[in-house]
Amino acid sequence: MSGIRTIVTGVGAYLPERIVTNAEMAKLVDTSDEWIVERTGISQRHIAADGEYTSDLAMAAGKRAMADAGMDASDIDMVIVATATPDETFPATAVKVQAGLGITQGAAFDIQAVCSGFVYGFSVADNLIRGGMSKNVLLIGAETFSRILDWEDRTTCVLFGDGAGAVVLRGEQGAGDRGIIASKLRSDGTKHDLLYVDGGPSMTQTTGKLRMRGKDVFKHAVKNLADIVEEVFEGTDLSPSDIDWIVPHQANRRILDATARKLGISPDKVVVTVQDHGNTSAASVPLALERAVRDGRIKRGDLVLLEAMGGGFTWGASLVRW
Ligand code: ACO
Repeated sequence: MSGIRTIVTGVGAYLPERIVTNAEMAKLVDTSDEWIVERTGISQRHIAADGEYTSDLAMAAGKRAMADAGMDASDIDMVIVATATPDETFPATAVKVQAGLGITQGAAFDIQAVCSGFVYGFSVADNLIRGGMSKNVLLIGAETFSRILDWEDRTTCVLFGDGAGAVVLRGEQGAGDRGIIASKLRSDGTKHDLLYVDGGPSMTQTTGKLRMRGKDVFKHAVKNLADIVEEVFEGTDLSPSDIDWIVPHQANRRILDATARKLGISPDKVVVTVQDHGNTSAASVPLALERAVRDGRIKRGDLVLLEAMGGGFTWGASLVRW
């Protein structure tokens, strides 16, 4: 490919106004703040308002990322929305976002890789940019998981929340060692039954509800994430000890800790925001990324690792020099 490198040039985030604490969850199902915090690290989640859709969350985060990049609608030539909770079966939420943000050129499409969607999108955007098809990609992870939860199932409803995070990715010549260094994507469709939604347009003509075998997902998550982090370094002259910041999918504090331990990486290098918004699926990596950039932890020159795993199973990692 060309000498173009893909740079992250803007970040943005949006969480719906309404916060639901663990104490409020305990009024809905037989659970407690103590149980949720101990098993997951989650203290609260944000829930979208009636009439507030995934595209609304995506636009709010996308607008902030564009402002952060100093770009307007005329600069963006590709919109990618990673989501498992689109507004409608079709058209893609990304097309709605494109129109809503006043972007009239280029193209827009959704990526469906559940919790790994943003990391999948990161890799796809990098290839579109380095291949010469796109110059400035607006990549958004946005979800309204509250709409596909079984609110009577305490084993799942306490874990998830709504939100959106976004980045603007720009192609640059002569960027030196800055930008995306490597990405690795994986999937394994044989694990469908461990985490899925029991509905859809073709099978049931309904949206369905999320179903999960949490203990099994946990085990696979730690192994797959540790493996993919090792794999993303293959072919580079770097190793996990060079990482300044890991920005993982925010599913469960215990998964983050166990993965860092398995890789021999200090927990101080792991960005954790799950306590504030629960598992927001494809939105969680950019939400955590935005937090760490905004508060000054991630600085120019840092080696940042993004990683995620989700339903499918799908999983992936990207290595980027900030
Ligand atoms: N409140 C109180 N008790 C509960 C709750 C709850 N919300 N949920 C389950 N329990 C009970 C169970 O019924 C069980 O009771 P029992 O012993 O009387 O049968 C007990 O707690 C233990 O249940 P386990 O399922 O064994 O609990 P575990 O320690 O495995 O924790 C959890 C469950 C938090 C779901 C964990 O397995 C997990 O985090 N798994 C990963 C799932 C995940 O993060 N998925 C996200 C999507 S994939 C991804 O993002 C990586």
